[in-house]
Amino acid sequence: MSDQLDAIRNARILIVDDTPMNVSLLESILAGAGYTSVTGLTNPELVFDLHRQMDFDLVLLDIQMPRLDGFAVMKQLIEMAGGDYLPVLVLTASTDRSTRLRALELGAKDYLTKPFERLEVLHRIRNLLVVRAQYRERQRQSEQLEQMVRDRTRELERTRLEIIHRLSRAGEYRDNETGMHVIRMSKGCQRLALAAGLGEAFGELILYASPMHDVGKIGIPDRVLLKEGLLDPDERALMQRHVEIGLSILGSHADDLLRMAANIVESHHERWDGHGYPQGLKGLEIPIEGRIAAICDVFDALTSRRSYKPAWPVPDAIAYLRKHAGSHFDPELVDRFIGILSDILEIRREHADDSPGE
Ligand code: C2E
Ligand code: SIN
Ligand code: SIN
Ligand code: SIN
Ligand code: FE
Ligand code: FE
Repeated sequence: MSDQLDAIRNARILIVDDTPMNVSLLESILAGAGYTSVTGLTNPELVFDLHRQMDFDLVLLDIQMPRLDGFAVMKQLIEMAGGDYLPVLVLTASTDRSTRLRALELGAKDYLTKPFERLEVLHRIRNLLVVRAQYRERQRQSEQLEQMVRDRTRELERTRLEIIHRLSRAGEYRDNETGMHVIRMSKGCQRLALAAGLGEAFGELILYASPMHDVGKIGIPDRVLLKEGLLDPDERALMQRHVEIGLSILGSHADDLLRMAANIVESHHERWDGHGYPQGLKGLEIPIEGRIAAICDVFDALTSRRSYKPAWPVPDAIAYLRKHAGSHFDPELVDRFIGILSDILEIRREHADDSPGE
């Protein structure tokens, strides 16, 4: 409550009247009542610049002025306030009924009659400033609330990305302890998506969605996943179930990111020629995020050491992509991938398997 009294006493008040004596009279009435911030103007043309600087809480406005009358000033002030509550209190002669009515009609909040009566001046001004102070307080509360909602939303988004990151690591944890494969692979997916002209938003989505591509490996027994050597056909069939396991882990959601993640889980082992798994989709039937993920996943798998194979030299992996462009891989995307090879190799250097994990 005393906050409100302070707010009222320190309210920024503007007096606009072309008669200097009226201005100084009001100034002295207000100063005598303890108001601390009162500005007087006799030239109404200066009101707008001053209001932009000062953001007045109350404007005491004369109507009959040369060059620019009070109606014109009020219209522009109300427009400047743009829906904000800005009290304008009109100064009129007590005989001037039609002016008062017109001013009130245009949006003046109240009026003062000349000659001024001290107590009436102070009561009317105080009443308007109370409303203004309440308005400001409500505005402050709602801004605070909006800020809380924004903070909370950002926190939720941060938590969501963190959980996704952790889940992605879980998928690779057992066969790749540093988790670097999913980081390299997902950054490569983002670069390739940008190079393919899919835009920043898509790039960001695939960056966060693609690390989950192998989350289903959680459900593959060690004897298969960690086998040192080639898989036999039964083991290979079991291994391929990482796709359906991943899908059931992710479930189906309306969320863009989780939906893209599920698409990538489902389609990252499809092949351009239709001989991939699990559905044998062909060409453009395979979602673009799956075609991108296939290239980035295989390139990174080939150039990494696995329990069943050594790391291939980069030129051999590139030759492999070229050779299988149009059979395993989308040929256009292979061209783009080779076009951004220097970026891909930069990602490899920054996130080598022996670099510190997170
Ligand atoms: P991954 O190691 O992340 O490999 C992903 C994909 O990269 C493989 O999908 C395959 O398309 C390609 N790739 C990886 N290494 C090689 C390779 O030495 N030669 C060729 N030509 N392509 C390679 P794929 O085949 O569907 O395998 C899926 C996952 O199954 C692999 O993920 C890996 O975890 C496991 N896996 C596949 N083959 C073997 C294997 O012979 N032994 C073991 N222990 N695991 C295997
Ligand atoms: C004040 O609240 O500061 C003065 C108001 C009044 O005198 O009516
Ligand atoms: C009047 O000016 O006499 C009446 C104005 C009003 O009703 O507020
Ligand atoms: C005053 O109340 O101080 C001034 C009165 C008036 O000018 O009407
Ligand atoms: Fe996979
Ligand atoms: Fe992978």
